[in-house]
Amino acid sequence: MAKEANKHLLFGGVDVVELAERYGTPLYVTDENKLRNNFKGYKNAFETTNIDTDIYYAVKANGNQALLKILASEGAGADVFSAGELELTKLAGIPAEKILFNGNSKSDDDLRTAVESGVRVSVDSVDELRALSAVATELRREVEIAIRVNPDVSPGVHAKIATGLKESKFGIPFHDVIPVCEEAEKLPNILLAGLHCHIGSQILDISVFGEATEKMMALVERVYERGMKIKLKFVDLGGGLGIGYRQAEKATAPTPKDLAEMILPVFEKKMQELGISLKLVLEPGRSIVGASTILLSRVNAVKRAYKNFVAIDAGFNLLIRPVMYDAYHEVVVANKVNERASELYTVVGNVCESGDIMAKDRMLPKVERGDLVAILDTGAYGFSMSSQYNGRPRCAEVLVCDGKADLIRSRESIEDLIRNQEIPARFI
Ligand code: LLP
Repeated sequence: MAKEANKHLLFGGVDVVELAERYGTPLYVTDENKLRNNFKGYKNAFETTNIDTDIYYAVKANGNQALLKILASEGAGADVFSAGELELTKLAGIPAEKILFNGNSKSDDDLRTAVESGVRVSVDSVDELRALSAVATELRREVEIAIRVNPDVSPGVHAKIATGLKESKFGIPFHDVIPVCEEAEKLPNILLAGLHCHIGSQILDISVFGEATEKMMALVERVYERGMKIKLKFVDLGGGLGIGYRQAEKATAPTPKDLAEMILPVFEKKMQELGISLKLVLEPGRSIVGASTILLSRVNAVKRAYKNFVAIDAGFNLLIRPVMYDAYHEVVVANKVNERASELYTVVGNVCESGDIMAKDRMLPKVERGDLVAILDTGAYGFSMSSQYNGRPRCAEVLVCDGKADLIRSRESIEDLIRNQEIPARFI
């Protein structure tokens, strides 16, 4: 991020103070080059070996069409968690053969949509497996599936984003996987093609990916040992690579290359032992899109109370991560980037909840009403987790690239708050 003499933050070659004036605040701003480079970082890291790797971007992190189209143009596949996310990826031009329909609670309609779209399904329970077989049979289609494995690996992250612990709601318990594979083998119109896991998110200690890979490859071995007819095509190790949210973490946070060095030797060794060849699939979300985006927000008030509060025009309706996961995001006063941090502030949102704290106890330059704040690294699980709580229409999104800006989502209006509400005739 460059600094300029006029003391404004530049992002994607654009002065963000001008962006805020042109498009209003709050405003999510994504840098196209950063997004492309993050994706390329994965491709380059995993292309160094002869293991065929596909990167399925996790759409839940950020489903904006412009971003999906950029990733599609770079060759991304997609991990989708709903029929809605599936539609978003199809619209963006991601081919069905590179889409995996995930989820621990899929309705018959979800399963029908998946089968009709010709995408693979990651099956999370025996119930789902049987229902999917019935739906596929009814539609006279075959469906390729992966079994979502719960590998019982502790990722050492916030409890709300650990997904592969044995007590977590996701996946089939490790010791039940082989019997479920055997059942899948027998069910009509089901083709078992892969094993899938996802152990958690914002993982900075990447040794746990090595552990998960060992466990998944042990299952692959069991499938072959038991002489099942199944010919596995792929193993999907999910997403989860963390990013450096704190300035001090930026240089030390693990990279896709570190991840590749952790996973690939384990993967390759077992394939060689078994004399088989499998595709490796990864589903990164945060590490692709997290650092590509900032949230711009205007200061509405500075209040000297028990603490020095900076009240901005974005709250947890637009960025819930600090509130939900105690997540840390760097805050920059975007119109004063060259000024010395001189005072301790707590940055709070405009939502009517005392928990609506965006950044606690930060040293910032002297802040005044009207200043512009940038909350950094908000591309993942920012807009995609937004709501209209407190009657606040969602904000706009802009894409910047080499000094140019394009609106990629317009700001919602008050009308959007009432768009789908119906007033019973007796009240009119
Ligand atoms: N694959 C599956 C099956 C997942 O459930 C997830 C995320 C991913 C891939 C992508 O994980 P990533 O690379 O982004 O860590 N809202 C939380 C994160 C929830 C992650 C849910 N699953 C947050 O803001 O930290």
